[in-house]
Amino acid sequence: MSFELASALEDRKQQHLYRTRRLLESAQGPEVRIDGVDMLAFCSNDYLGLANHPEVVSAFSQAARQWGVGGGASHLVNGHHAQHHALEEELASFTGREAALFFSTGYMANIGAVNALLGRQDLVLEDRLNHASLLDAGLLSGARFQRYLHADVRSLEGRLKKYDARRKLVVTDGVFSMDGDLAPLAGLARVCQANDAWLMVDDAHGFGTVGRGGRGIVDVFGLSQAQVPVLVGTLGKAFGTAGAFVAGSRDLIETLVQHARSYIYTTAMPPALAAATRVSLRLLEQEEWRRERLQQLAGRFRREARRMGFTLLDVAGEDEAGHALPLTPIQPVLIGGAEQALSLAKALEREGILITAIRPPTVPENGSRLRVTFSASHTEAHLDRLLDALARIVATSPELLAHSGVQSGCTTDEEQE
Ligand SMILES: Cc1ncc(COP(=O)(O)O)c(C=O)c1O
Repeated sequence: MSFELASALEDRKQQHLYRTRRLLESAQGPEVRIDGVDMLAFCSNDYLGLANHPEVVSAFSQAARQWGVGGGASHLVNGHHAQHHALEEELASFTGREAALFFSTGYMANIGAVNALLGRQDLVLEDRLNHASLLDAGLLSGARFQRYLHADVRSLEGRLKKYDARRKLVVTDGVFSMDGDLAPLAGLARVCQANDAWLMVDDAHGFGTVGRGGRGIVDVFGLSQAQVPVLVGTLGKAFGTAGAFVAGSRDLIETLVQHARSYIYTTAMPPALAAATRVSLRLLEQEEWRRERLQQLAGRFRREARRMGFTLLDVAGEDEAGHALPLTPIQPVLIGGAEQALSLAKALEREGILITAIRPPTVPENGSRLRVTFSASHTEAHLDRLLDALARIVATSPELLAHSGVQSGCTTDEEQE
């Protein structure tokens, strides 16, 4: 018997779905050196430009000198450092929740939280465009697993009413990672409360980028701990460090300490990382200009790319109550086919611009795209370079604009069952 790995890999290449890793030889920032070439990048999640901020770097190195590098043990043995604990308290106060728990990664936070809360007698309902870590968490839990239509409150409500379960957990990205749109949180919270379900929001891409002081999507919609009992944030994106947290009631956090296996059975992150994150949390909260810059860059990019004929996602300008909604730093250019998306990425690379093509299975079939992301470290001159390069490409290769069947992510109801 053979595993036939080589032929499966070859098939993936034929379908233009093969992934490769490139060698980054510089720090994160708008201008990077990758595979030996200097490029202007619009694809990292370092939205606020804090990954290489001198104060964060200095906090990290000072803390490493003081407390060493290794976490040494798991949190429940003797790895739970005072720096981890101080970060958790500051994150609880930042999010307006009773308590918070620091996990090693967002993937582990999601797997840990969902699996500590749910078992076979339960129901988990997920937006069909949720991040893979949330989908995997739901599938692993053994609970009845259903997906509802993207950002569709009525689709969720129908499923909530249809099934009986001991516990019902509704799980959604806050800002969707590949589309950059906001979940309709007010409506989701309302139907959860009416149907005795808990709402879990993973705001990996919203913390730091939207809301007052970067408090994310729950702040945009003004939702309390009772309305969003499980709130997840990741620290490797706008915070510029690494790790993640779950915030909620004391009982929730105690339950995770007792039962979240991806928290319990792993070595604690370096205390220095927690110390650096405490500094990035302060910068994230105080430096409003970083969020203002993101709004300006995203707004100008959307207007000018559309004028050139590119397809951008429609985003809601306001919520149900008529309040203006912010743009997010994720502004994908929808292309459609994987091969076409790769060709556009290559054409940009020839112009010295790095944007990765995102292809299935990360996005739906015919939903390939260039995931353009902005950082507060990008200047207007950087954006000029991107727009000029796109204009040249459209002039010489108009076939690289999206074709008509492009899939923005929404599917029909039948696909959900
Ligand atoms: C919505 C969402 N949740 C969780 C994660 C995973 O977080 P981490 O990179 O910390 O594992 C990501 C992306 O990485 C994400 O986009």
